[in-house]
Amino acid sequence: MNFLLFLAFLCLGLVVGSSKLDPRFNVQWIEWKELYQKQYGMNEEEWRRELWETNLKMIELHNEEYNRGKHSFTMAMNAFGDMTTEEFRLMMNGFQIKKHRVENIFQDSDFINIPSSIDWRERGYVVPVKHQFSCGASWAFSATGALEGQMFRKTGQLISLSEQNLVDCSWSEGNEGCNGGVMNFAFQYVIENKGLDTETSYPYEEGKGPCKYNPQHSAANVSGYMDIPKDEKILKEALAYAGPISVAIDTSPPTFLFYGTGIYFDPNCSSTDLDHGVLLVGYGFESEESDNTKYWLVKNSWGEEWGMHGYIKIARDWSNHCGIASAASFPLCEPMNIDK
Ligand SMILES: *[C@@H]1O[C@H](CO)[C@@H](O)[C@H](O)[C@H]1NC(C)=O
Ligand SMILES: *[C@@H]1O[C@H](CO)[C@@H](O)[C@H](O)[C@H]1NC(C)=O
Repeated sequence: MNFLLFLAFLCLGLVVGSSKLDPRFNVQWIEWKELYQKQYGMNEEEWRRELWETNLKMIELHNEEYNRGKHSFTMAMNAFGDMTTEEFRLMMNGFQIKKHRVENIFQDSDFINIPSSIDWRERGYVVPVKHQFSCGASWAFSATGALEGQMFRKTGQLISLSEQNLVDCSWSEGNEGCNGGVMNFAFQYVIENKGLDTETSYPYEEGKGPCKYNPQHSAANVSGYMDIPKDEKILKEALAYAGPISVAIDTSPPTFLFYGTGIYFDPNCSSTDLDHGVLLVGYGFESEESDNTKYWLVKNSWGEEWGMHGYIKIARDWSNHCGIASAASFPLCEPMNIDK
């Protein structure tokens, strides 16, 4: 057990004696445990339940406020309801903003005809939602997502690619497996390695292992990558032009973890403290009448049970909310010719 977790356990252990568990939630607790197949060790259940109750109350309060028009999105209890702050951190600190460097820049192009909404899932560019579990490899999931899209664009075949290949093998490019990484380093690895294995040939293990790359199972090549300037207008153009794009966002507000439906907006979401790599797959708006219903459609790697079947809508054209445009990039699998 890691030290912080142990400490949290100790502290919680102390309050359990004077426990203030709410019996009103007994049935809900049992159902939730069953749904997510939770099994606890000795003395664990009580403090897990306290964490869960705290989260449940936060979610219920938020949803009451939502019903009174105070928020643009709902929250929902999910599999993460009993997690400690330290466990959250394991899952979330997958993007290392300090290492991210901007190199080849996608040029703003006024000539491109941009649709008012786009969803690359409908065009076959996106594989089903994956789950990183408690390994901070969101950078790898974000990178495979963008590369799966670009390979589909090139070959017309949608093939799921291996995050484990990146987790195990891209250390010399600067990535750190489950301790975090950068999507551009993952693209750099595929360039240098001249390939990336398929998901089925090199499945995810939720931890780092020895590099087992096998060129016979490679299904992708990368020739370079493009960074997108910190500008939501250019991000929209790049997305419409290229396909799904790797982005990093801030997921530290607790509202993010329990996002349910609607357009995510939390005033505490930072546009500079990015901690999580995700995949931008579209944009749109919910109403023609109102200007503040514009959203980015984002694919997460926390399973299909989180958010809207694994996806989230994040407020768009709202001062770069959560940093959606702060570290956006995509790989190139063939020469890029922008038709103007
Ligand atoms: C990647 O490039 C190498 C070298 O050009 C080539 O042999 C290989 O077939 C390519 N792989 C894919 C999946 O396109
Ligand atoms: C933002 O953070 C502050 C300080 O942690 C907190 O008091 C406030 O409730 C948060 N706002 C929202 C909307 O969560």
